Amino acid sequence: MFAYIMHTLIFWHIQTSFLPQAFTSISYVTLDSEINAKWQNESIILTSEPTQAILVKDKVNKLFDGLFNLSYPLQCLWFVNTYTVEIEPDFLKGQDVYTLIVQENNITVIQTYTFRNLKLTFIDLSRNGIQVVENLAFANLSNLEVIYLAENELTTLNSKAFENLPKLRELLLMRNYITLLGPSSFDFVKTRGFMLSISNNRIANIDEDTFRGSNATNVSLFLENNLLQQISINIFHNHSFLEVSLTGNKIRTLTGNLEERNFEIGVLRIENSFDKKSFQSLLNWTIINNITLDCKTCVSTNLKNLAQPVHFQKGLSVIFLIFFAICSCWIVVT
Ligand SMILES: *[C@@H]1O[C@H](CO)[C@@H](O)[C@H](O)[C@H]1NC(C)=O
Ligand SMILES: *[C@@H]1O[C@H](CO)[C@@H](O)[C@H](O)[C@H]1NC(C)=O
Ligand SMILES: *[C@@H]1O[C@H](CO)[C@@H](O)[C@H](O)[C@H]1NC(C)=O
Ligand SMILES: *[C@@H]1O[C@H](CO)[C@@H](O)[C@H](O)[C@H]1NC(C)=O
Ligand SMILES: *[C@@H]1O[C@H](CO)[C@@H](O)[C@H](O)[C@H]1NC(C)=O
Ligand SMILES: *[C@@H]1O[C@H](CO)[C@@H](O)[C@H](O)[C@H]1NC(C)=O
Ligand SMILES: *[C@@H]1O[C@H](CO)[C@@H](O)[C@H](O)[C@H]1NC(C)=O
Ligand SMILES: *[C@@H]1O[C@H](CO)[C@@H](O)[C@H](O)[C@H]1NC(C)=O
Ligand SMILES: *[C@@H]1O[C@H](CO)[C@@H](O)[C@H](O)[C@H]1NC(C)=O
Repeated sequence: MFAYIMHTLIFWHIQTSFLPQAFTSISYVTLDSEINAKWQNESIILTSEPTQAILVKDKVNKLFDGLFNLSYPLQCLWFVNTYTVEIEPDFLKGQDVYTLIVQENNITVIQTYTFRNLKLTFIDLSRNGIQVVENLAFANLSNLEVIYLAENELTTLNSKAFENLPKLRELLLMRNYITLLGPSSFDFVKTRGFMLSISNNRIANIDEDTFRGSNATNVSLFLENNLLQQISINIFHNHSFLEVSLTGNKIRTLTGNLEERNFEIGVLRIENSFDKKSFQSLLNWTIINNITLDCKTCVSTNLKNLAQPVHFQKGLSVIFLIFFAICSCWIVVT
């Protein structure tokens, strides 16, 4: 009898650890367009009437194909602090979800085909401890505009993770441990006004061909608080940047072809850790190329083209702010 009970318990344990949602229920809150909140308690996450947002308020060890049966398009799906450790490839197959937030969990790998052929416009995977983003993790997402991977543990930027994302215009990688940007890192950067934030990482090296395959224009590139001690301006050749931010590094030398003029930089933010001669070449270079220099530590008498105050907010995207406003209002109401 005892053996029978033990056997049953072990069997049950194995079942539940492999299929955690199949035998238990998941608690979540649904919000409709009038922001009426409703607690649901179901074996999978489902909607049987039009729903704007779903907030999962439970432990969900794994996100997998079959976890959802959404009968209506869903604007916003949240898994924040849900003890999630894995996302299976194609887990959202056939579900119309536009904004997905999986934050403050313990997902270490974003696997190949995790996000593909979906209608998603915004994916936020920040604060998960992600160490690896595999090739084709994000593929064929024709509406996707923003990928938020901030505050993870990435040491490299895998450009092959991003395939056929024609509308992507923001990739946010702040506060990871990325050490270098190799050749063709940004081949997937293809839209005008792309914003690329890799501030607060550990970048010590940027390859001259980092932007080689990119045809984006008006790119905003944020590289503040990294470990750069030198930078080749050839990185910028043949490309156009609205803004390049290099403050919080200790850049002592500019290398590369200072004569070449086949590029554009609107504003360059940097500080003066140069020797006198290098600083003079920097100044000459910015003047010749009509670059507005924003350099608070530069001695102002040396500056012919003193920086204009720049009015746009850096670091935070407009989309994110709008989205955040909408979603926070839902949260507040619950
Ligand atoms: C959901 O259902 C489970 C099991 O039926 C129960 O233990 C739990 O309290 C329920 N939660 C809510 C929020 O109703
Ligand atoms: C999903 O829900 C619909 C009804 O809302 C139902 O007809 C359908 O069988 C469900 N699909 C699955 C795979 O459970
Ligand atoms: C993530 O893992 C850490 C350490 O392993 C643990 O302390 C923390 O509670 C976990 N968080 C979640 C949301 O599972
Ligand atoms: C992306 O779409 C193309 C064309 O529809 C298809 O050939 C390719 O296999 C898709 N890639 C993935 C990763 O699904
Ligand atoms: C870059 O090239 C792709 C085609 O490969 C095109 O769809 C896109 O519009 C181009 N981007 C810019 C800014 O010209
Ligand atoms: C770049 O952005 C500026 C300001 O937003 C705009 O005036 C300019 O037309 C843009 N140039 C290109 C090539 O997109
Ligand atoms: C500059 O870019 C254009 C297209 O964007 C390309 O045709 C040309 O070969 C590039 N030149 C260099 C020197 O890379
Ligand atoms: C900077 O430009 C000035 C005047 O055009 C020139 O005399 C000087 O040698 C240049 N300095 C450097 C370091 O290129
Ligand atoms: C330099 O830039 C300013 C504004 O950024 C622009 O008005 C001016 O025409 C530019 N001058 C040249 C020579 O490109």
